[in-house]
Amino acid sequence: MTPWIDVAAEADLFEGAGIAIQPAGHDLALFSIDGEVFATDNICSHGSARLCDGYVEGYEVECPFHQGRFDVRTGAATCGPATEPVKSWPVKIEAGRVYLQLSA
Ligand code: FES
Repeated sequence: MTPWIDVAAEADLFEGAGIAIQPAGHDLALFSIDGEVFATDNICSHGSARLCDGYVEGYEVECPFHQGRFDVRTGAATCGPATEPVKSWPVKIEAGRVYLQLSA
């Protein structure tokens, strides 16, 4: 089974915004929305923008480059010009820490 990796303190997150993390060579974004935490790849599938810098509305993050949008719960592209999804990662919170399951 893929191990859970401690990647951040829940207190490091900002409600309604993203932060960047780099666990085990991955470039990921964590989003805290309505008390839940979601993890996606940080780099937009359309270009080299960082989604952690994007504007969050509801469960969507808007890419800062061309305003493509992704559902942070699934990574699905929900607004062009982004058409390809970004990967989303399993998250769990335990004792104030954020854990991700990072497969290869
Ligand atoms: Fe993200 Fe173009 S780089 S929409």
